[in-house]
Amino acid sequence: MSKIIAFSGSNSSTSINKQLIHYISTIKENVEVIDLKDFEPPIYSPDLEKEVGSHQKIKDLVSKFSEADGVIISTPEHNSMPPAFFKNILDWLSRTGATYLDGTKYLQDKKVIVMSSSPGGSGAKGAQALVQKMVGYAGAEVVGNYTLPSFYDNFIDGQLVNEELKNELKDVLSKI
Ligand SMILES: Cc1cc2nc3c(=O)[nH]c(=O)nc-3n(C[C@H](O)[C@H](O)[C@H](O)COP(=O)(O)O)c2cc1C
Repeated sequence: MSKIIAFSGSNSSTSINKQLIHYISTIKENVEVIDLKDFEPPIYSPDLEKEVGSHQKIKDLVSKFSEADGVIISTPEHNSMPPAFFKNILDWLSRTGATYLDGTKYLQDKKVIVMSSSPGGSGAKGAQALVQKMVGYAGAEVVGNYTLPSFYDNFIDGQLVNEELKNELKDVLSKI
């Protein structure tokens, strides 16, 4: 049975993307949920990188990925982009393959599903597409994506209540 790491790109304690990821861990086996806040480095700067190399928290995150066969990510959207919190982690991660891990990309040969959710009708699809592009550079095999729009209409009391969206989610999760 493959091991899957799942996380959201949010640093909010009430994150809707975290709620989606938690829900997934209740309907799919072998999903370990992690909180990216536990792996949060300072804002990336070339000067800091010269000083510390790869930040220890980023090394810890890469090592977490290396234990997994697959990764599920759900990103929020801030102004049509992934939030700065998440982009910062992705920037640090992008340096690991090039510089510190003998050219091994941090998601090399990992199956990845990229998801997103927002309270609006777009479901943060724009940010999702950008994250998909970034993890593609990191060697991921993106096997599926999923959008949960209008979060507060479709996700009530910890459950996905829209049958169509529920079936779509099951289909995409079967790919990893
Ligand atoms: C600074 C800021 C910018 C936002 N921009 C967008 C946006 O471009 N598109 C969108 O769908 N929602 C946007 N939102 C609303 C977020 O989708 C909403 O806050 C959501 O709960 C964030 O996901 P999270 O709860 O998982 O952190 C924005 C919210 C903030 C605070």
